Amino acid sequence: MLTLNPKELDSRVFYSYLTGTIAPRPIAFASTVDKLGNVNLSPFSFFNIMGINPPILVFSPNNRGRDGSKKDTILNLEEVPEVVINMVDYAMVQQMSLSSVEFPRGTNEFNKAGFREEKSVFVTPPRLKESKAQFECKVLEIKQFGTMNLVICEVILAHFSSEIIGENGKIDQQKTDWIARMGGDWYVRANEISIFEVEKPITKIGIGYDTIPANIRLSKILTGNHLGQLGNMENLPTQTEIEAYRATETMKNIIEQVMFCCAFLENLLHTEAANLLNKNEVKEAWLVLLQKHP
Ligand SMILES: Cc1cc2nc3c(=O)[nH]c(=O)nc-3n(C[C@H](O)[C@H](O)[C@H](O)COP(=O)(O)O)c2cc1C
Repeated sequence: MLTLNPKELDSRVFYSYLTGTIAPRPIAFASTVDKLGNVNLSPFSFFNIMGINPPILVFSPNNRGRDGSKKDTILNLEEVPEVVINMVDYAMVQQMSLSSVEFPRGTNEFNKAGFREEKSVFVTPPRLKESKAQFECKVLEIKQFGTMNLVICEVILAHFSSEIIGENGKIDQQKTDWIARMGGDWYVRANEISIFEVEKPITKIGIGYDTIPANIRLSKILTGNHLGQLGNMENLPTQTEIEAYRATETMKNIIEQVMFCCAFLENLLHTEAANLLNKNEVKEAWLVLLQKHP
């Protein structure tokens, strides 16, 4: 275990450990204007949603490492406290990266990176036409801590492309293809191949890890993820269900292997349960795990 005290390190060195581990981070592609109306577009991965009522987004342009000066985004926000935060998908990643070059103040990165502007409804900075989610925001506060400027803003209007809306009118996660920043030059792409679902126990109260019988909890075959799935089950199968399960082909095969191949029942049960849990068949996994020696 590498243990580091930030006070004993150069902040840029510790930064590399922070950004390499607090990852992936979504990217706020922030469109701002100065008081003369010059448009600026810059990406910031120190960014997230921090509240829903009111809807609050925060992002943080740090002062330039080179000379400690404020970035154009902050200078603009001090003049016109409005921002459009545009989300970035894979189709935009290279142009987004190009826009992060430190062009002189007043340069419009929409033009430099080849993006199109679209008029906003409630704020002065334009939206990014290519972005599939655009949030028009009013800046509530800019908090300064050392070299960072934490921009706290409220979403006053949001626009979502029909390309990412599912049949139920909500965002279809499999259609978004968002990208996020990791450490160094690494990014991650959230498409249908890389994303996965974990059932959230909002309405039910699972039995919990500590209630799982010790022989299952201490299994050498089941992983922490498997035990998490098992502990998420609200009610264990009844004795009748467990006995009925004994007549299934799965159990007949397992018992045959125990009888004729001298295999350990527990190992076979745990292996079968692991396979079922990998397919998210949690109740059936419990039915397998609760079988007794014939
Ligand atoms: C994906 C990505 C994420 C970035 N995140 C941040 C960030 O969170 N904070 C920051 O100060 N700079 C960040 N940068 C660097 C700024 O985008 C860069 O300094 C930019 O030139 C600032 O532009 P401005 O001076 O026009 O505001 C990031 C760059 C990229 C490519």
